[in-house]
Amino acid sequence: MHISENVSLRDHNSFGFDISAEHFCSAKSLEEIQEALQWQKKHNKPLLVLGGGSNTVFTRNVDGLVLHVAIDQLTTEHNGNNINVYAGAGVSWHQLVKQTVFSGQYGLENLALIPGNAGAAPIQNIGAYGKELCDNLISVDVLHRETGETTTLNRKECDFDYRHSIFKTPAGADFIVLGIRIHLSPQDKPVITYQALKDAMQNRPSTAREVFDQVCLMRQSKLPDPKVIGNAGSFFKNPVIPCQQVDTLRKEYPDLPVFPYSNTECKLPAAWLIDRAGWKGHRTGDVGVHNKQALVLVNHGGGNGQQIAILADEIQKDVKQRYRIHLEREPTIY
Ligand code: EPU
Repeated sequence: MHISENVSLRDHNSFGFDISAEHFCSAKSLEEIQEALQWQKKHNKPLLVLGGGSNTVFTRNVDGLVLHVAIDQLTTEHNGNNINVYAGAGVSWHQLVKQTVFSGQYGLENLALIPGNAGAAPIQNIGAYGKELCDNLISVDVLHRETGETTTLNRKECDFDYRHSIFKTPAGADFIVLGIRIHLSPQDKPVITYQALKDAMQNRPSTAREVFDQVCLMRQSKLPDPKVIGNAGSFFKNPVIPCQQVDTLRKEYPDLPVFPYSNTECKLPAAWLIDRAGWKGHRTGDVGVHNKQALVLVNHGGGNGQQIAILADEIQKDVKQRYRIHLEREPTIY
């Protein structure tokens, strides 16, 4: 394992911001991570753990050690009608989806083309087109960055919710994800509950491979490819608000789309709120709001993290003022 100095993180963040890390290392195994942590403690340096960099907005150079987790182990176990897959934290999420669906191991097809690595998937409980990671997750192997102990958290212990897990709370913030265990099925029975997917499949029975292809098409038509236009996917979570407040809002905005969430709460599409407020396609210098999906902030080339943070702030203030709704940011601002 080699620790380098003054390394550009341009290829390690999906916005493509050219900031640098004081020290950087890529760890391919648990032992290499442990070695990196020993080095970091010995030199008394701050630590930043990075996966695919698709959920971090860098606003400045990073002091201390950036630890890139690159464990790329992938193993499959067949157990009767169950297929259990273990993916190291550094396995590319989309490659995992593609490889499993194409080999007759079904369950992740709705989650095609989500950027980032397997290790980041449980942190925000990635979800799209009617499925969330937690639907197929068995457990997560983690290392505690202070005690150095490894442990396995089962699904319940991960405390998953919409774009939420224990890893986003103080109780889980010190864990480094080493790998995830998921269950898949040899039976080709995809979940087609998301309206846009239902419409696209025209209500006919479909295979997981067709869902995979359709999800790829839909994402490619709306979401910018980070390799072409820097972005971090959805920049805000869809807000969950009391249904009573929805009734009030609907008086002013009768066409406001609303999704059920719980008995008393509803989920609103942040993209609609931002779009309706006139931000879609907005551009300030080299940063802006994507012109095909208002939830995605983009770097047109020469932008930086501070400009993205300022734009996000302006959108949050405007949405708050118009609808009295607080939009929560999804990516971590560093
Ligand atoms: N809409 C607009 N304007 C837009 C885009 C969407 O008004 O510019 C409206 C649509 O008409 C629709 C509603 O907003 O009524 C929902 O739109 P969409 O189906 O595109 O989904 P979303 O709620 O905007 C969420 C996830 C996406 C995921 C899609 C599909 C969050 C924060 N985002 O977006 O996740 O791909 O559903 O399931 O939950 C991501 O996390 O990076 C991501 C892309």
